[in-house]
Amino acid sequence: MTQNGAENAPIGLGIAGLGMAGAVMVHAAAAHPGYSLRAAADPHAAPREAFARDHNARAYSDVSMLVADPAVEAVYIATPHQFHREHAVLAAQHGKHVILEKPMALTLGDCDAIVEAAERRKVTLIVGHTHAFDPNVRLMRRIIAGGELGPLGMIHSFNYTNFLYRPRRPEELDTAKGGGILFNQVPHQIDTVRLLAGGLVRSVRASASVLDSARPTEGSCAALLQFEGGVAASLVYSGYDHFDADEWHFGIGERGAPKAIDHGAARRALAHVDDETRSRTETFAYGSGSAAMPPHQPHFGITIATCARGDLRASADGVTIYGQGGMREVPIERGEGMPGRREALDDMRAAIRFGRRPVHDGRWGKATLEVALAILQSTREGREVMLEHQVAVDGSPG
Ligand SMILES: NC(=O)c1ccc[n+]([C@@H]2O[C@H](COP(=O)([O-])OP(=O)(O)OC[C@H]3O[C@@H](n4cnc5c(N)ncnc54)[C@H](O)[C@@H]3O)[C@@H](O)[C@H]2O)c1
Repeated sequence: MTQNGAENAPIGLGIAGLGMAGAVMVHAAAAHPGYSLRAAADPHAAPREAFARDHNARAYSDVSMLVADPAVEAVYIATPHQFHREHAVLAAQHGKHVILEKPMALTLGDCDAIVEAAERRKVTLIVGHTHAFDPNVRLMRRIIAGGELGPLGMIHSFNYTNFLYRPRRPEELDTAKGGGILFNQVPHQIDTVRLLAGGLVRSVRASASVLDSARPTEGSCAALLQFEGGVAASLVYSGYDHFDADEWHFGIGERGAPKAIDHGAARRALAHVDDETRSRTETFAYGSGSAAMPPHQPHFGITIATCARGDLRASADGVTIYGQGGMREVPIERGEGMPGRREALDDMRAAIRFGRRPVHDGRWGKATLEVALAILQSTREGREVMLEHQVAVDGSPG
């Protein structure tokens, strides 16, 4: 194969975990010309069989078999949070490049073990997807960095969802096992504001709440992040299925599809579910949902950045600038494939084939987890927490 042939060859991708996130990534990778789906692993037979049939690919019951498959060059890991360290280290040890879902792991020590395993085998590690990969967040970053609106002062990220009342595996409701919004949802907001403000969070003051004793993990949170250089970001999240922030985002859902707002519907439906784990698999696992590409851009609630000469907002189809001359829209081409996941796949491909350093590497993922853990610590201790493991967008240490 010529040099160009090798660069153009699709990357053989394996999927670990064929649940909600795994299913979305299967559709995103199937639509990406730079990837070829080769295999997947999941203990559940139904999504495995559907995947093998739809993609003429192998399906294993165990991740150890997936990472040993020679046709797999990179593994996307979307297994439950408590397995992220084990599965990422295993993949790296087998010489596979890794896209690891958020949260990177449960502790900073776990993150170090993953980074070390990837560096030892010289494989690429990307922590994502998060909504920081969304095209409208990347465009906001470019506009801010371009300087036309002057210096950035503050960012507001605000989301209200039904997160806590979707059918959940038991560990998803146990903070010690990586459950709750701090490990699952708020990392989207942390990653986004870190990307927009340059990456280096100096301190966190936060208060997270457990408001439903039947679902005993953090379901809401208010946090103030102070960045090096003076930028502040406020993160507000509630997953209690009362208000829905998509009502204020043009009636469009998280992945970009039109959405019928129905406050409290998830909570009411959950009252009729006997076995949440089974219901989760039947509702969300690969083979049970739609592969349709949504018509609008993905988003995570409302994201607004305030600069000296204007505000920027991630909108339905691009970025809205509210400037001194009025309001204007900077549209984003919808393009082929699934926005957000497509960018994570692009970054992995650019790293593997062309040696480009991804922003969302292992050290970046660890820094995002550090902020999430600091929110929990600040809640427990009722004080501001200083951070020590932050990295900048360009990879330099804080
Ligand atoms: N980036 C996003 O927008 C996004 C969206 C949803 C979930 N996620 C992340 O994806 C990951 C998975 O979450 P989910 O919502 O898809 O959960 P899920 O419960 O829907 O799916 C998890 C899947 O992993 C499988 N699994 C369990 N143990 C396994 C093992 N030992 N080996 C292989 N597979 C195993 C389960 O059978 C299930 O199919 C989490 O890290 C979550 O935070 C990310």
